[in-house]
Amino acid sequence: MNQLLITGGDRLDGEVRISGAKNATLPILAASLLADSPLAITNVPHLDDVTITLTLLRSMGVEVTVGDHLALEVNSSTIREFIAPYELVRTMRASILVLGPLVARFGRADVSLPGGCAIGARPVDLHLRGLEAMGATIEVENGYIHARTKRLKGARILMSPVSVTGTENLMMAACLAAGETRIENAAREPEVVDLARCLSAMGAHIEGAGTDMLHIEGVDSLHGANHAVLPDRIESATYLVAGALTGGRVKIKNTCPDMLGAVLIKLQEAGGTIRSNGNWVEIDMQGRRPQSVSIRTAPYPEFPTDMQAQFTTLNAVAEGAGTITETVFENRFMHVQELVRMGADIHLEGNTAFIRGVGKLTGAPVMATDLRASASLVLAGLVAEGETRVDRIYHIDRGYECIEEKLAQLGARIHRIAS
Ligand code: UD1
Repeated sequence: MNQLLITGGDRLDGEVRISGAKNATLPILAASLLADSPLAITNVPHLDDVTITLTLLRSMGVEVTVGDHLALEVNSSTIREFIAPYELVRTMRASILVLGPLVARFGRADVSLPGGCAIGARPVDLHLRGLEAMGATIEVENGYIHARTKRLKGARILMSPVSVTGTENLMMAACLAAGETRIENAAREPEVVDLARCLSAMGAHIEGAGTDMLHIEGVDSLHGANHAVLPDRIESATYLVAGALTGGRVKIKNTCPDMLGAVLIKLQEAGGTIRSNGNWVEIDMQGRRPQSVSIRTAPYPEFPTDMQAQFTTLNAVAEGAGTITETVFENRFMHVQELVRMGADIHLEGNTAFIRGVGKLTGAPVMATDLRASASLVLAGLVAEGETRVDRIYHIDRGYECIEEKLAQLGARIHRIAS
């Protein structure tokens, strides 16, 4: 198993190019199942979650052609199976995204029920209830969701709580349903908007993407299109935090500053000078230690839960004390114990972490538990005294393209070793 070995203490300085967004790529790949001709996708990040999704699509008989820079062409006209097996869904919960498209286009889907995961129970009840409201028959048996229908019909659906993949699954299904679907309290994440853009290019009729009310007028068929995936806002924000906690200067390119509002406000509060224009953002700490900030996670446009762990690390080395309250997932503080092993002063009370910044963290062997938790440990390694060895980095390879190369480009001493 691979590990990342990091020698801390260097101030990061430089520029880094941001990859396409994982959380937009996965639903867009699932959307290819809706089209009766090939969907061409560019700006696809080379990540394990993308590879798993392609394996899943291929296992159904879908043809995937990989071109230069991982430009993909996905042709679902060759599909012969409508099954997402346990072995694949177990490794990636987002596999549930094939459910809506399969039922909508082929009238049947057998998708393994995702289990719990490191960050909480994460049910899929909203996905199932929404499809039922559209007329699908759903049975859950032997760990599988069996969904059947002749043709879905438009429905009025309320998402409560607001769910990102839930909104995406139902929006995709509604595109081929007969009549109009309204999704109330829809997720407003930029990745939902990117999916809607792609679906519209495929011939779908969607209004309201980016608001909490989606109107979808179903059509009889969708066709292929060309789509460039939007930049990854979580990867963007993670590199900005890397700049902030090392007192450095980091410029991220090929990104979208508008998607980063809540994070940029907190980085400014932490003492960073932020400059941005068009498709780049720069943070400059001018050698200063960051100030503690207090954060409460919530659905977009508020502070993203996927940046919570990284800001926990920022606070761990900042001046002063701050609180981090997690409201989206119930068990997303697995990184805290590992940070404490590196010398952080954090105590947890319910869904809030109370963090008092310490002058220094010390390097240690630590274990990654989920994707964003791993990022927080890598960030801690960048500022810790001595050497940090991050184990189980397969989590990080699910969501950060070339993380060690990108950090090394900014001046970090980091490399991958086989344990
Ligand atoms: C997506 C993102 C993930 C991010 C999360 C929240 C992808 C592939 N993943 O995950 O990176 O952390 O949004 O921004 O885009 N819930 C229910 N019933 C459901 C569905 C969700 O109760 O049927 C609850 C969940 O337990 C959670 C909350 O809703 O408490 C939000 O989860 P959701 O938005 O669905 O997260 P994901 O879409 O799985």
